[in-house]
Amino acid sequence: NSLGITLALLAGLLLTGCAGDKSILDPAGQAARDVVMIWWVMLGFGTVVLVLVTAFWLYTFKRKEVTRTPADERKIARRWIIGGGIVLPVASITALLAFGVPTGQRLLPLPLADPPEVIEVIGHQWWWEVRYPGAEGGEVVTANQLIMPAGEPVDFHVTGADVIHAFWVPRLGGKIDMVPGRVNKIRLEADEPAVFGAQCAEFCGAQHAQMQLYVEAVERDDYETWLAARQTEQLAALAVNDQQHDSAREAFMTHCASCHRVAGLSSGREGPDLSDLGSRTSLGAGIMAMEEGAVTRWLQHHQDLKPGNKMPPHDDIETATLESLGAWLETLTP
Ligand code: CUA
Repeated sequence: NSLGITLALLAGLLLTGCAGDKSILDPAGQAARDVVMIWWVMLGFGTVVLVLVTAFWLYTFKRKEVTRTPADERKIARRWIIGGGIVLPVASITALLAFGVPTGQRLLPLPLADPPEVIEVIGHQWWWEVRYPGAEGGEVVTANQLIMPAGEPVDFHVTGADVIHAFWVPRLGGKIDMVPGRVNKIRLEADEPAVFGAQCAEFCGAQHAQMQLYVEAVERDDYETWLAARQTEQLAALAVNDQQHDSAREAFMTHCASCHRVAGLSSGREGPDLSDLGSRTSLGAGIMAMEEGAVTRWLQHHQDLKPGNKMPPHDDIETATLESLGAWLETLTP
């Protein structure tokens, strides 16, 4: 009928807005395809129910008045209650479960003969800590960027540092809560090298919406190279071995070192690790592009750019010092 068709067209129109690097309707891995398949089936099923109910409803307007005995009334009512109220819902929900449960099972990180890469992601207000415990040569730690190998399953072990956050890479699969004191696991796979948007998906305070992340899937070789360049000694050499930025390093040790790690200089864990900051594509957990001068701009205006973030304002630090700090941090590019 026309109402159903109108609604379907309207829904189709709305869905054209669902493109981009965070679209669940554009899956880029098996887990995401499973999730979106469930979504389409539910949508189809819901549409059929809507059309049927609407048809019945319209039919009641057209139906001729008939007089029945009370006994007949009761018989018809009972038929509707048993058929429409019990049998139909039980049958349809059972069918949906039979379809959905195995799909959900496939998303669980069950043991594999060839154990997948593990990447740990820790949600903080309002940024992401990312750890690679399996890196050859020792654990690698970064923040606000996630590099993963493409074309193979990757197990994400997630937790929260302060409140509950949720890790969600819509094009790769379902979201999973990051709960303090608990490690949740999800297995995702990217078909091919690409960059995907990720978003905190559990309200976690004022800057929840600004808790974003770019996930970059790369070839296995590139992944290994990327990790090797981020071994502590490599990063330390990067941070310490240039004479040009002595004053910036000094300022860093005074103002930043207690909260931020720069390999070779400090081991703060309150705020994001900055050891390879210059190599990232974005700043402030995905809110601004990394370009020349961006770090200085962030240092000067971060409370305007992301109000309420846990880094104290830097009004007490001279502009020239912030500029030299920003310029130095941008050189930290393995
Ligand atoms: Cu973290 Cu919302």
